[in-house]
Amino acid sequence: MSGVAARYPGLTRIVFSEAEITARVADLGRQIDAFYPLEEELLMVGLLKGAFVFLSDLARAISRPSLKVDFLVAALYGEGTDPSREVRLLYDMETPIEGRHVLLVEDIIDSGKTLNRIGDELGRRSPRSLEVCAFLHKQLATDLRYEPRWVGFDAPADWLVGYGLDLGERYRHLPFIAAIAPGSERGL
Ligand code: IMP
Ligand code: MG
Repeated sequence: MSGVAARYPGLTRIVFSEAEITARVADLGRQIDAFYPLEEELLMVGLLKGAFVFLSDLARAISRPSLKVDFLVAALYGEGTDPSREVRLLYDMETPIEGRHVLLVEDIIDSGKTLNRIGDELGRRSPRSLEVCAFLHKQLATDLRYEPRWVGFDAPADWLVGYGLDLGERYRHLPFIAAIAPGSERGL
């Protein structure tokens, strides 16, 4: 960790290494592949920005003749634990999802607000099926209406960066998941 700490200020420890992630994503890909009938098309919907790295690895771990990819951009507004925090859909996809198998791909489930809001939105569009695959799950959400069928790893309650996750847009590019010290955004 010491070399990493020197190169990337604020990181306190590596939580999931690149090798662990690679192995786990391959498992998830196999499980997802086995879940859907091979001849039926799957539409993976990534929640940007955080899911961009996970989705790109996961899609390549799935081998089926028909797989499509699209994205949504959602953002959570408001401060910290304020219950009035609101999730807004900033960009909607053009692909119609009615009658399709939709797999919503999330980077991390924290309060669960994002998933509840986006799950409701997609559910209204009458997909044939709607499942969720989250790379990380903090297991803190108390009223999650869409339980993820697949989770990469249960995660600690720390703020995590890397593999698509950021702190103030920093560190999305790290190939591993690390914890970052609270307040680090001020020093970066
Ligand atoms: P939720 O709506 O509280 O479940 O939060 C989901 C979103 O918050 C995720 O898609 C991330 O963009 C962001 N988020 C939550 N926890 C973390 C973290 O530990 N590191 C980086 N982003 C996080
Ligand atoms: Mg984010």
